[in-house]
Amino acid sequence: MRKHGIGGLIARQQWMNPAEKTLQKVTHSAFRFSGGQKLKNLLHGTWLGHPLHVVLTDVPIGAWTAAVVFDAAESMSGRRAYRFAADAAVTVGLVGAIGAAATGLTDWQDIDPPARRIGLVHGLLNLMSATLFGSSLIARRRRSRSSGRDLAALGYALSMIAAYLGGNLVYEEKIGVDHSSAERLPDDFARVANEADVPPGKPIRAEHKGTPIVLIRRGSDIYALGETCAHLGGPLSEGELEGDRLRCPWPGSRFSVYDGHVVDGPAVHPQPCLEVRLRNGDIEVRRSNCRTSEDDKKSRPDIAGTLLRTG
Ligand code: FES
Repeated sequence: MRKHGIGGLIARQQWMNPAEKTLQKVTHSAFRFSGGQKLKNLLHGTWLGHPLHVVLTDVPIGAWTAAVVFDAAESMSGRRAYRFAADAAVTVGLVGAIGAAATGLTDWQDIDPPARRIGLVHGLLNLMSATLFGSSLIARRRRSRSSGRDLAALGYALSMIAAYLGGNLVYEEKIGVDHSSAERLPDDFARVANEADVPPGKPIRAEHKGTPIVLIRRGSDIYALGETCAHLGGPLSEGELEGDRLRCPWPGSRFSVYDGHVVDGPAVHPQPCLEVRLRNGDIEVRRSNCRTSEDDKKSRPDIAGTLLRTG
């Protein structure tokens, strides 16, 4: 589909490909040497069940909005209180921008064009904006108020364009949204496969009215999750089973086969989990809220997501 607006224009800039790829490689290497997967999970927001980046971006946007308002109030009234408030808001925004940049870069390393390209421009604009606010703070400390205000105004304008592209990434490119949430899973038990169709150790794709479901056998139990990866829609049935984790074949999020919770990002939203029962050799599934700990799951085999033999 042809894309429009600034996002579409950026998406068509194929010449940026080599730079995007190189930066992604550098970012991946940096994570390998720093904290690895644990640090990535922290920055993605896997622990939060929500992308952390979009939470932290509110800090610089809010603080810098306050800064330009206080700057305007100071230049109109000349009151010193506005001056201190503006300087403090610029500082708070700069601190918040560090967190927003770290989380944004972490999310960006796992996406492909065109979102990757739009994300890179979004990040560069934010970097320029933060640099201008940093310069503004230096000017303010040197008592050059009017330069400080001008630099802040310019930085704010750039941050608004960057924010627009951030919205484009979410609403157009669907980055950070739960790609599994639109799936229409059966509310009542529905047959999706034969028990004999599910070999041990290999995830199998089944379907209910066009909705893909992944079936996993572990020992004598069968588990079912939504097949469309919550992160970017990867096909989980083509992924790998690693013990009781299912690894997505795309950037490699890992989900618990017991209840679909995210073990490792980049995904932050859990996979939908289905209750499974066996009737006369048929596997039947239905939507379930299997949000239980794995210990609970092991000690209570009647909990949704485990195999119930009824026939
Ligand atoms: S699509 Fe990205 S981890 Fe599955």
